Amino acid sequence: MSSSAVIAIAVAAITVLAAIVMLTAARRSDVRGAGALSRETIRRDRDAEIDIPVAPTGRAVERAAVAARSSALVAGAGGSPMIWIPPDDEDVGFNRRQFLNRASVTLMSTSLATFGLACIAFLWPTSAPVFGGKVNLGKLDEILGTIRSSGGFFYASNARSYVTVYPSEALPKAKGVKEYAQLIGGMESGVIAMYQKCPHLGCRVPQCNSSQWFECPCHGSQYNRVGEKKGGPAPRGMDHFAVTVSPSGDVVVDTSTVFAGAPIGTNTTGQEAEGPHCLSGTGGHG
Ligand code: FES
Repeated sequence: MSSSAVIAIAVAAITVLAAIVMLTAARRSDVRGAGALSRETIRRDRDAEIDIPVAPTGRAVERAAVAARSSALVAGAGGSPMIWIPPDDEDVGFNRRQFLNRASVTLMSTSLATFGLACIAFLWPTSAPVFGGKVNLGKLDEILGTIRSSGGFFYASNARSYVTVYPSEALPKAKGVKEYAQLIGGMESGVIAMYQKCPHLGCRVPQCNSSQWFECPCHGSQYNRVGEKKGGPAPRGMDHFAVTVSPSGDVVVDTSTVFAGAPIGTNTTGQEAEGPHCLSGTGGHG
């Protein structure tokens, strides 16, 4: 046999073997497929009892936790629960609740007592003379001395009033003015008290030492030294307080009652301005 015939037979044999191998592999792949189980395996799995774990419910988890805690508790000696006996108050002194109660009561009592004392102090009548009642200005001689030395006027801030000399020669005329009826006693003692508040719109009316009048800076009302209106828009003379002089010589101004000033045109003293006015452009009002 020639060599070429041997090669041809060998090639044919290899080709046949290769074809057989390829056919066998293809058959296995068709039957089983990739990852496919064998029938035997499938049958064995079907027959077997497989315990598939089931996810626990929330309630089951809670029960398990409670059971775990209960089992963690250690039973007391003898297996019976211990009974709590409160400590004796005398041993402890007093407990926290008593402490808080007593602290609250103490604080509340202190606050109420402080508030009560403050109210009493506020309402307690003071001995010091104050506006709204009878105000003792001091001795008549001293007041007259102050009026002379200070240019004709005495200002009493605690009585909110001015005190000036009322001339005795004007008394007959004053007794004819009904608005002065309650003031005659003080006038006879030589003094008269004027409320500092302007009867026009309530400004405080200062004295004017140069004119010896009262001159209101708000709208220019003018009054003579005893409060009778001389000019400006005020509807009357300055209001007054009654004055009494005690037997011991104390001058007391009763500020509890304001007596309306004398009507426009009242001029019991006849006093004219004794110098320049303190406010420019005043004196032109009627
Ligand atoms: S308030 Fe005094 S004149 Fe008006």
